[in-house]
Amino acid sequence: MHHFHYQSGELYCENVPVRRVVEAVGTPCYLYSATTLAHHFQVFDAAFTQFPHIVCFAVKANANLAILRLFGRLGAGADIVSGGELYRAVQAGMDPGKIVYSGVGKRPDEIRAALKAGILLFNMESSQELELINCIAGRMKLKARVALRINPDIDAQTHPYISTGLKKNKFGIDIDRALEDYRRAQELPHLEVVGVACHIGSQITQVSPFVDALERLKELIDRLRALSIRIQYLDLGGGLGIQYDQEAPPPPSEYGQKLIEHLKGLECTLILEPGRVLVGNAGILVTKVLYTKASDAKHFIIVDAGMNDLARPSLYGSYHGLWPVVEGQRDQVKASIVGPICETGDFLAKDRLMPAFAPGELLAVLSAGAYGFSMSSNYNARPRVPEILVQDQDFYVIRKRETYRQLIWGESIPDFLK
Ligand code: LLP
Repeated sequence: MHHFHYQSGELYCENVPVRRVVEAVGTPCYLYSATTLAHHFQVFDAAFTQFPHIVCFAVKANANLAILRLFGRLGAGADIVSGGELYRAVQAGMDPGKIVYSGVGKRPDEIRAALKAGILLFNMESSQELELINCIAGRMKLKARVALRINPDIDAQTHPYISTGLKKNKFGIDIDRALEDYRRAQELPHLEVVGVACHIGSQITQVSPFVDALERLKELIDRLRALSIRIQYLDLGGGLGIQYDQEAPPPPSEYGQKLIEHLKGLECTLILEPGRVLVGNAGILVTKVLYTKASDAKHFIIVDAGMNDLARPSLYGSYHGLWPVVEGQRDQVKASIVGPICETGDFLAKDRLMPAFAPGELLAVLSAGAYGFSMSSNYNARPRVPEILVQDQDFYVIRKRETYRQLIWGESIPDFLK
């Protein structure tokens, strides 16, 4: 469910006409609905009420401070993968006691910062990382709470670039060598082994891969118990998919219920790291048509947003729905929506049957709330676009459009070129 709808032929986000926002901030811009964000969090959280749990929002999906604050207020923790994400979560006022730190490449300075902040736990992804965290925690005279991120060798049946739980992927510790690493972690004086974790991929549209992964982790938990290692936290990662096009992912209630059925008897706190499912369909990218050009072979609609603003179509061939901001009668054409970037891969939609949008029209690129702004860049020296949060009849600029001055911030010309 989301709060983007038409009223008298105009697209609204909650009770704000999208056009009004564009008049104030221009295009392109990201627009998020606060009511949708809160609703998504509450529905997801409610799906797990029968089991002790913490919902740690995956910051990488949308790292804006206001959005982190919104989730934090509702009781969310955070799943972070870098010192920068830690900084953002803390700046947004999120509870460090509900922060989990995942990722294969944590640097020593990042580990130190996380220990200093007092995060809940580290999801460790390699034997070498175990040793390093132990060493850093020792120097800081602390004990680091850790979980081992296990690679359960499960096919999440999603796009290969966002599948993470297969043996051949770089993530996690092979389930076959996990016992050995747990034994080692248990020996290390500055680690407190508290959990087991996994994350098998993203945009997963069935429950079965999650259940399969959970079953594997349960076997491991049993074997750990035999070694007197008591697992207090079971982190099942994120990955629940959303509808972009024709997909039919299970609703969070069904996902929660099925997982809970398989969790019976386990005495631990469940951690979940949803990203996309909370924010994906709560955001749109608004762009303006600049030109159209048609030849015998192709019909192009050139818009002012490019792959630097929304990378998903270029990177994964992802589908994003397109709605006109003002409804109307238009011919249908088979066209590609392309951006201003000098790359053939710069498209938002490819060879799709769509209304023949004309220059000056505003388009909403749907399902852009997750991995949209957070993956945007300055490629082609394009300032990053503003982010707007709508609540009911009001809208707030939660990130300003970057300026040209900001584009060159920190750069300097060395003396020999002066
Ligand atoms: N936890 C971990 C350890 C992760 O690596 C991820 C996502 C999540 C949680 C959140 O997953 P979600 O619930 O959002 O599926 N840029 C890609 C998605 C990459 C996902 C990376 N990891 C995209 O735009 O589709």
